[in-house]
Amino acid sequence: MTVAEYFDEMSYGPAPESDTEARTWLARHASGFGHFINGAFTPPASGKSFDTFEPATGKVLARLATGDKADIDSAVAAARKAQVQWAQLSGHSRARHLYALARMIQRHARLIAVVEAIDNGKPIRETRDLDVPLAARHFYHHAGWAQLQETEFGDQVPVGVVGQIIPWNFPFLMLAWKIAPALALGNTVVLKPAEFTSLTALLFAELAAAAGLPPGVFNVVTGEGNTGALLVDHPDIDKIAFTGSTDVGRIIRERTAGRGKSLTLELGGKSPFIVFDDADIDGAVEGVVDAIWFNQGQVCCAGSRLLVQEGISDLFHQRLIRRMQTLRVGQPLDKCIDMGAIVAPVQLARIESLVKQGVAQGAILHQAKIDAPKGGSFYPPTLLSGVQPTSTVATEEIFGPVAVSMTFRTPEEAIQLANHSRYGLAASIWSETIGLALNVAAKLAAGVVWVNATNLFDAAVGFGGKRESGFGREGGREGCYEYLKPKAWAARKARTMPSLPHLKTTAGDFSLSSIDRTTKLFIGGKQARPDGNYSRVIVSPKGKAIGEVGEGNRKDIRNAVVAAQAAAGWTNATAHNRAQILYYIAENLSGRADEFAARISTMTGASAAAGKAEVEASISRLFTYAAWADKYEGVVHMPPLRGVALAMPEAIGVVGVICPPEAPLLAFISLVAPLIATGNRVVAVPSETYPLSATDFYSILETSDVPAGVVNIITGSPDELAKTMAAHNDVDALWAFGSPELSATVEKLSVGNLKRTFVDNGKATDWFDSAAAEGANYLRRAVDVKNIWIPYGE
Ligand code: NAI
Repeated sequence: MTVAEYFDEMSYGPAPESDTEARTWLARHASGFGHFINGAFTPPASGKSFDTFEPATGKVLARLATGDKADIDSAVAAARKAQVQWAQLSGHSRARHLYALARMIQRHARLIAVVEAIDNGKPIRETRDLDVPLAARHFYHHAGWAQLQETEFGDQVPVGVVGQIIPWNFPFLMLAWKIAPALALGNTVVLKPAEFTSLTALLFAELAAAAGLPPGVFNVVTGEGNTGALLVDHPDIDKIAFTGSTDVGRIIRERTAGRGKSLTLELGGKSPFIVFDDADIDGAVEGVVDAIWFNQGQVCCAGSRLLVQEGISDLFHQRLIRRMQTLRVGQPLDKCIDMGAIVAPVQLARIESLVKQGVAQGAILHQAKIDAPKGGSFYPPTLLSGVQPTSTVATEEIFGPVAVSMTFRTPEEAIQLANHSRYGLAASIWSETIGLALNVAAKLAAGVVWVNATNLFDAAVGFGGKRESGFGREGGREGCYEYLKPKAWAARKARTMPSLPHLKTTAGDFSLSSIDRTTKLFIGGKQARPDGNYSRVIVSPKGKAIGEVGEGNRKDIRNAVVAAQAAAGWTNATAHNRAQILYYIAENLSGRADEFAARISTMTGASAAAGKAEVEASISRLFTYAAWADKYEGVVHMPPLRGVALAMPEAIGVVGVICPPEAPLLAFISLVAPLIATGNRVVAVPSETYPLSATDFYSILETSDVPAGVVNIITGSPDELAKTMAAHNDVDALWAFGSPELSATVEKLSVGNLKRTFVDNGKATDWFDSAAAEGANYLRRAVDVKNIWIPYGE
């Protein structure tokens, strides 16, 4: 071709990145990689191994060790041994290690980028410009948190030994997201990379050891899902951090239930990409390119559901289809390509099958023509337009370069369609009207929202989802807390559960002459008779019947959840308003302090002074949360990218609370108050042994301007009622304090909607100790942080 012809055609020639260094590294390990345990490559105990393939050619790339129980055991033992010393280092010493890792990544950036592109199939342009620099940024950012640990997290201690399981879509970046905060804050790690893409983890481990990371601090055990399961099941793991599919997330939730392990799950998504009719259309079209054709669409937060306002739909689709045709698909190491290969044939087959289903269900197929290299797993950029909101392709995560599109008329309809998903990971909004965009951002069920942008990430900005997209955050201050636990909780001892010998469900056994009526339940601001019409007698430690409370059942819980859902106005009330009401509750309790103190003494056998002290502590706690209501605020992050990110703490929604047997008034207040201060609505089950402080509280709630449905109280068996709440899909979170069995049941049954759980594993809290029983450790669990990225400045 002549130069003139090149100018006419404007086609790109290949611009391959050299893979010599990467192939040399692979050749050094040609006999097979071991696991990386205690600072050295270690052959698999079983001698078993498996091949890993190059997605762009289908050729074998390396041989990886299969991790079995013995390998996991030795990796966990190495991590346990190392953790003691690692946690004892000063924050500054750990900061220096993290800094060394950041520099090490930068020094080897090209090698890592090439190995990642070969191993995953993604374009070198992306690994070079995004995965690797962002990974380095995570180590820099977290070097900072290590340095500041003593001052910023002085009331917390590391969780301990962490098992981390990551997927194949961002192998190196996910490694950085996971290990940087874990190591920075004094934990050690056993990482199980995805079986398709383990190479950069092994490369990192090798380089980190050379950079002076002490043996055992970071270990890698390779293998398939079974190896991950062995890590999850290991008794000496304190926390599991998982990123991957929702199905496996559910399995892990069930397997860790009741085992006292902390858990974070970053799962799937079907994120809406909303284009309003006043959007910059070309900007939005470019946005779609980054939303769904970036990383071959294998992105958990991919903007995979396009919602386009009707008036611009034709024009938008025209331009989008035209742009789609210009995307170049090819060899990952060619610097001129936009899309590389799909990670594995099995994923390719899944994409093909889902697209076929979409077409069969009436979607219109648009596909770019590609000239894909032979032998690899390639799939063209694809758009399915005119899809039904309920069709498979509109609801299932395709995890490939396939956008589906539908239209809407009004912002309300856009919000409804956007939220019509079991997921809640991310969302993208395109409009030139800032008021509209921010109004919609507030109403989307998503952990991350991008305004006039998409797929922006930074180490300082938390990332994570709601609903079946999992729980927990990675990045930022909130991400650090996922690797810490409150120091004040470390001293908690196993609680002795009361045997309840005095609790009978038939009134006949006791003289009830002093009781004139059975206390009802408190649902939707009204006292309601229990559905089953049963009640139970409450007896003092001296054996005297002192009251009767309703025996709530699953129907009562369901009614209470409906009432709590209807009280959504509380979530939108101003923080000042919520603070005022909390003060008012405290004032009304104060006015009846003697009566409440006497009740506590009669019920529990505590001295009059102790009863009085519990009421005073409860009033003070209400003041604390009234104080926090308008002070537990968000922050504005300033990432090194265009714009800023507003980190907004949002109420989780409807939260169930199972109160512990002890401190009948104070524990009830300590759990309910932080939840309502942050805008949640509560269904609370009071202490089984001493429920009368909570039933006395109905009238306090009635006279304190608490809107109907904000606090609902159901007496009865906490264990039974907890089961109903844990399995209820409209309960968004469940706090359960009681026996270890209660914690286990709650965690196990919460798997349906993957609700957030907060359990004490049978450890008793000293509710009078403000370090252990109030403040940020509770407020943090009462909210989800939504990060809203907005344009700001130039
Ligand atoms: P996956 O969830 O099975 O794999 C993720 C990681 O979990 C891998 O390291 C795997 O070895 C491990 N794993 C698998 N089973 C396990 C178990 N029982 N216990 C512990 N660890 C286990 O994802 P997979 O099969 O690779 O992809 C299937 C689908 O999942 C994709 O098509 C996509 O829809 C979705 N996915 C979503 C991701 C996200 O970030 N949201 C990431 C990867 C996959």
